[in-house]
Amino acid sequence: MNILILGSGGREHSLAWAVMQNPKCDRLIVAPGNAGIAQIAECAALDVENGGAVVSFAEENAIDFVIVGPEAPLAAGVADRLREAGVLVFGPSADAAQLEASKSFTKEICDASNAPTAAYARFTEAEPAKSYVCEQGTPIVVKADGLAAGKGVIVAMDEQTALEGIDDMFGGAFGGAGAEVVIEEFMEGEEASLFVLCDGEDILSIGTAQDHKRVGEGDTGPNTGGMGAYSPAPVLSAEIEARAMEEIVRPTMAEMKRRGMPFQGILYAGLMIKDGQPRLVEYNVRFGDPECQVLMMRLGAQVLDLLHAAAEGRLSETQVNWADDHAMTVVMAAQGYPGSYVKGSAIKGLDALPEDSSNMIFHAGTKAVDGQVQAAGGRVLNVTSRGNTLQEARDRAYAMVEGVDWPEGFYRRDIGWRAL
Ligand code: AMP
Ligand code: GLY
Repeated sequence: MNILILGSGGREHSLAWAVMQNPKCDRLIVAPGNAGIAQIAECAALDVENGGAVVSFAEENAIDFVIVGPEAPLAAGVADRLREAGVLVFGPSADAAQLEASKSFTKEICDASNAPTAAYARFTEAEPAKSYVCEQGTPIVVKADGLAAGKGVIVAMDEQTALEGIDDMFGGAFGGAGAEVVIEEFMEGEEASLFVLCDGEDILSIGTAQDHKRVGEGDTGPNTGGMGAYSPAPVLSAEIEARAMEEIVRPTMAEMKRRGMPFQGILYAGLMIKDGQPRLVEYNVRFGDPECQVLMMRLGAQVLDLLHAAAEGRLSETQVNWADDHAMTVVMAAQGYPGSYVKGSAIKGLDALPEDSSNMIFHAGTKAVDGQVQAAGGRVLNVTSRGNTLQEARDRAYAMVEGVDWPEGFYRRDIGWRAL
């Protein structure tokens, strides 16, 4: 099979790493890729949000299967263009991608399917939104409706923060994403993520994970894209996972099908769990980054068969083969992230570190310059290990982190603290 993966982060490096191990993969191209991906696959420059360009590239390179990594091409309809051209693709249509691209759409689906989630109201003007906040009281959560690169959510502990957030959103701080605002009940509990393959008809859970969104140890400081993750998530017991599948994911999928927009791809359900009850925080329509890295580390080569089965509508005859293992990834980021940071610093020591089925450094934001690996983003490396216990996975990952010679980088030393 000739395979094309779209994307350039640690998520796509880990997808490529797993897919490559499957003997059904004859040729793998990642577009645009990065310096780490270039060590294991071909990389190609391509505007991945341009459906026409992606279709032409797939046809020119006799691609049999396309795997879409990030949400932007999905929201832009790239999977639709590929399907229209007869190219097999893993990833939802633009209509179905509204589960991530529009928070009010997701709330409507939850209402229609009776899925447990936070109570909410939606607004297109600031004044009624502010009155609602004053009526409801705090804590309360203010969200821009559209895609805002993870920044469009304000968890307001006091009224002033909520009111300022509303002004910022309607003032255009998130562009068109803030033209509509959703205000939600604040949910207490512990957060965890569930990853479910969907083929439009059937669903198959492929694992759970938890990440650390705050930049600082003890989960303090500003939000980031994620500073580390581990799988499985102990809080998502088999019983709670089954509840989430039956009460949240399955009814969502049925409602999507009923609306003529069946969802095919990976559904990432962000859950809040309290007293054994899971409630939906949000959906994403792609793998989490860095959650994908720990899932790929655990699943390995079977990932290609699983994604292919989802794309071809064969999930009912597919199963996941689990090892009773644990994986952890530690994100190494450029000093200053998530604020401004310097690009171009040299990263050394990578060649001496192990790369095998239990240890891998996935590249998130790197560039090869004259044979040297340089930092090219905020989140730069995902140091990932597997073990029989979470503690073993953690010890291995941090041992590798010690071996990376990159004075301009930093990382959190407490990934997994909640689970250990
Ligand atoms: P989202 O982009 O919707 O995942 O929101 C980002 C983060 O905000 C989530 O991971 C939660 O930590 C938090 N959050 C969002 N909605 C709520 C809610 N209704 N109650 C409590 N926390 C929330
Ligand atoms: N790590 C969170 C996300 O991918 O949205």
